[in-house]
Parts: sequence; structure tokens; C-alpha cells
Amino acid sequence: MIGGSGSIRHGGGALEDSVSLTPIGEPRHKVTVSAVHDKKLHRDPITCLTAYDYASARIVDEAAIDMVLVGDSLAMTMLGHENTLSVTVEEMLHHVRAVRRGVKQALLIADMPYGSYQVDSNEAVRNAIRFTKEGGAEVVKVEGGEKRADLIRRIIDSEIPVAGHIGLTPQSVNVMGGYKVQGKSLAAIEQLMRDAVALDRAGVACIFLEGIPREVSGMITAEVGTPTIGIGAGPECDGQVLVFHDILNLTFAEPAKFVRRYGDAAALISNAVAAFRADVLSGQYPSDRESYHLPKETRAGLEMVLARKRALRR
Ligand code: KIV
Repeated sequence: MIGGSGSIRHGGGALEDSVSLTPIGEPRHKVTVSAVHDKKLHRDPITCLTAYDYASARIVDEAAIDMVLVGDSLAMTMLGHENTLSVTVEEMLHHVRAVRRGVKQALLIADMPYGSYQVDSNEAVRNAIRFTKEGGAEVVKVEGGEKRADLIRRIIDSEIPVAGHIGLTPQSVNVMGGYKVQGKSLAAIEQLMRDAVALDRAGVACIFLEGIPREVSGMITAEVGTPTIGIGAGPECDGQVLVFHDILNLTFAEPAKFVRRYGDAAALISNAVAAFRADVLSGQYPSDRESYHLPKETRAGLEMVLARKRALRR
């Protein structure tokens, strides 16, 4: 698999040395938690996309996206589950490690899956350490506001930056009764404000705001010093995140209102697969140019051997 002289396949290393999508003349610096905070101070929009494997991680990182999130949404996008609840720490780590190998500059955030931080705080810290030590994540993300503040402080005390996530928190799908916009009543707005302030005071690296009215995200963003990263939360947030598969039409479902499709990878891939099949069926693939040939001398020797065999058979 690894490229080298005589190798017929390009391995990651070989490709890495020769190809970069970073525009020439645009030096990039490693994105850190403090760089993201500086962006909020300077009102520089923060960009974030999910990635779940090496290839998507490289593409996102080399496009100069600030933060790469290995979201537990991979339970649905990559593993075909109905929701995010069943993905395990081991499964998440498998993807985080692959993304780690593809990300050089972006800040790498890993989602802690459902069940990995809700039971007890020692276990939560142990799992957060695994995401850092084994996965190479720079920040771990947990869902929930006020009620997670103490836990978040404990994880931060273990030298691991934490991202918060409030509003529509997919790990609470059964409590919310579906994926519904949150923060629509005065009481719900008040709770969201308390959640955001609690996360801010706990010292989170950033706060993901999902599925809340833009007016509420605007109030939260103005209230807290921590950068807010919205998804379905309107333009007032300090940054925006979308799911890689959503922007590329790879979800096999109707997109949510906030999703903007920037490409149609499903059509691109389907067309390529159909064309390959048609070429094989019609004998047009592989062509002579796509085939390996014997060296001249071996070919001459082989022809002599075959001629001798034919003569003996006569
Ligand atoms: O899992 C995920 O992809 C997320 C984003 C939607 C914020 O948590």
C-alpha cells in the first residue's frame, strides 16, 4: 500500500508529499483554542465542518476550515444508525484516529458519545483522556448546559479543553420527543441563557448552538465571551458548523431547513460507479494503456518457450 520505488499504489505518505490543496502563498498557522477566541474578539467568522475519515479530514483541513469536528453524527452518516445514541467510544475513537492523520492545521474536536460521560465523572474523565491520548483530539465535546458545568470543570482540570453543545442536543432525542427547534418559549429562552452562561463560566473552548431561533443565538453570542458555533442557529453566531454529508448530498434524506448543499457528491459517485460498471460489461475497461506489460526481453523469451511447446505438441 505504501508508495515507494516499484510500488503500483499511492499510499497516504507518497500522496501527501506531492499534493496539497492549500493555495500557494497562503501560509497557515495551527488553529488553537486561543486562536478561536481571538477570532471572536476580532469578529472574524469561525468555520467548522464535520469529518469522519482520513480523506474528508484532509479535504476539510486543506480548505482552511478552522475546526474539524468528529461528530457522533457519524452514527447516522457513516454507520447508518437511526440516531446518535448507539455509537460507542471504540467506534468514535476509530474515526477520530483516522481524522487525526488527515488534519494538520485545524483544531480537532471529538464528540464524546452518549453514555461515555453521563454515568460518573471519573469514567467521563477517563474517556476524555482516551480521546486525547489515543485519538489525538485537542478538544472533546459534551452535550448539555448547566447540568454539565461541574463535569466540564473536572475534564478541564485534567488538561483537556471542552466544547459545550446546547439547544437541540441529539443525544436527548427521546427526551425532546424528536429533533425539534429548542428555545421557543420565554422559559426555554431563560434556561438556554442559564446554560450558556454556565458553560462560559466553566471555561469551555466554544459553545455549539444547535436548532435554536436566531434571536436567541444572538442574545447568547452577545452575552458570553466564549465563541458560539451555530448549526441551524442563524447568522448571529460567531461561527458556523455543518455536517460534511449534508453539504454534499450524501445523507439519503431531505435536508433540514438550515442545510445548504454545496455539491452533489451522491450524483458524482453514482455516475462514476455506473460508468465503471458499463465499461467493464462492454469490455472497455481496462484498456491496453491501463494494463501492465512484460519487459521486451521477457516477452521474447516467453514467445520462444511457447513456440517450443507448440512444436512439441505437433
Ligand atoms: O455530531 C455532530 O455532527 C454535531 C454537530 C451537528 C454540531 O454535534
